[in-house]
Amino acid sequence: MLVRNIKPNGLEHVAIIMDGNGRWAQNKGRPRLFGHQAGARRVKEIVESCPGLGIKYLTIFAFSTENWKRTQIEVSGLMKLFKRYIDKETQPLIDAGVRVRFIGDRLRLEPSLVNLMDRLEELTEKNSAVNLTIAINYGARDEVTRAVKRMAKDVLNGDLSVENINEETLPKYLDTHVLPDPGLVIRTSGEARISNFLLWQSAYAEYEFIDTLWPDFTKEIFADLVNQFDNRERRFGGILR
Ligand code: IPE
Ligand code: IPE
Ligand code: MG
Repeated sequence: MLVRNIKPNGLEHVAIIMDGNGRWAQNKGRPRLFGHQAGARRVKEIVESCPGLGIKYLTIFAFSTENWKRTQIEVSGLMKLFKRYIDKETQPLIDAGVRVRFIGDRLRLEPSLVNLMDRLEELTEKNSAVNLTIAINYGARDEVTRAVKRMAKDVLNGDLSVENINEETLPKYLDTHVLPDPGLVIRTSGEARISNFLLWQSAYAEYEFIDTLWPDFTKEIFADLVNQFDNRERRFGGILR
């Protein structure tokens, strides 16, 4: 098992932008969906390595609100892959003590997929070894917009006063309201951008942009990045003493 010496930086939540599936497949002369299938298979090993590394929360970006712009073949292939993945992994995830949550707007997803997502959340709700959050049809701007709408309704209903809107109350309306902020955000595939992921939550996260394409990402690479985090100097706007 990969073990980490837990130091004061206290990393407990890692978020990953799993990018590069398409290029990985194209490099092999295969269709993009072949890369997505390979990418989905990588998730298990990373989730399983979390307890040994002291990571209680893992959040992974699977499909963004912008990914609907892709071809119909790719989008429907991805939706099918999510359904198959949830169906196949439900029992192993229960057995491994993983609690699964989904973030993102479910309204645009097929009801058959949403049913599987709801069921997996329910079946794993008593687990606590690792909290795995999967972002599907997630976009941070969309999330904040939906949060602001709900806040406005609460203000109109008299359940929230304008004076009480602050940096503690606003995140309670985000999809991630039960999660701590990520300490580390990893993006694979060499792109150094956020692509609308966890904008509020990652305001003070450390970022690691690595060249590895997601289907080549391993638990050893993950452990290295987690261990490097412990050597980072986090200041949060203050000064070192
Ligand atoms: C990430 O891989 C997975 C999704 C966005 C669904 P990509 O499909 O973006 O792969 P590249 O970036 O085209 O290589
Ligand atoms: C971000 O990757 C979304 C996911 C990994 C699900 P994209 O491949 O969609 O991001 P861009 O288009 O390169 O910014
Ligand atoms: Mg990409």
